[in-house]
Amino acid sequence: MDFRFEIITEYMPFFLEGMMLTILLSVVGVLVGCILGFFIALGKMSPVLLIRFPFTWYINFLRGTPLLVQLFLFHYAVLPALLGDTTAVTSVIVTLSLNSSAYVAEIFRAGLQSIDKGQSEAAHSLGMNKFQVMRYVLLPQAFKRSIPPLGNEFIVLLKDSSLGAMIAAPELLYWGRAAASQYLRVWEPYLMVALIYLVLTLSLTYLLNYLERRFDVK
Ligand code: ARG
Repeated sequence: MDFRFEIITEYMPFFLEGMMLTILLSVVGVLVGCILGFFIALGKMSPVLLIRFPFTWYINFLRGTPLLVQLFLFHYAVLPALLGDTTAVTSVIVTLSLNSSAYVAEIFRAGLQSIDKGQSEAAHSLGMNKFQVMRYVLLPQAFKRSIPPLGNEFIVLLKDSSLGAMIAAPELLYWGRAAASQYLRVWEPYLMVALIYLVLTLSLTYLLNYLERRFDVK
């Protein structure tokens, strides 16, 4: 089998451009996902059933339906109905952020509930109010425990941003498909794209290991 390296060199600038968008999509997705996820976790932990209910179903829906279906739903139906128009990049960012927020909410909830009850009782008995207990006792510890699963979430999102190619968001896989259809060759573009994803996820793994050591996660 011949391997045409010149296809890879010709497409390299596009692969790199796609890679930058891939990174952007997953970073924004995970950041917005974390912010939304935090409030959704609080909502889902509410003692009031009527408050808990919508949050529970928000999570159920986003975890219980395929990401690709959500992407099509938002890109072709929800966002055009809400905004009148949308771009592929906007749709991917919105879908990844919302999808991620459901997973992150469960990560935070697990983190918060893993802190022993005695700690908040002790903090209350020292005169702290609910907000102070959350801010000074629960959150710092829950955050530390959430770092490893949040890292996983980031890696999942980085790989799943490739679904954006299905609605022509010009991320990494999009350019792989472009090269494949221009040259009617499959090995060179898809191997190269796979390799770039691997480099990205491995770098992220090392970065996360460093953070875990830095924050002394046990
Ligand atoms: N492949 C899964 C799906 O289609 C991806 C879910 C996204 N996961 C995540 N942790 N954000 O539903």
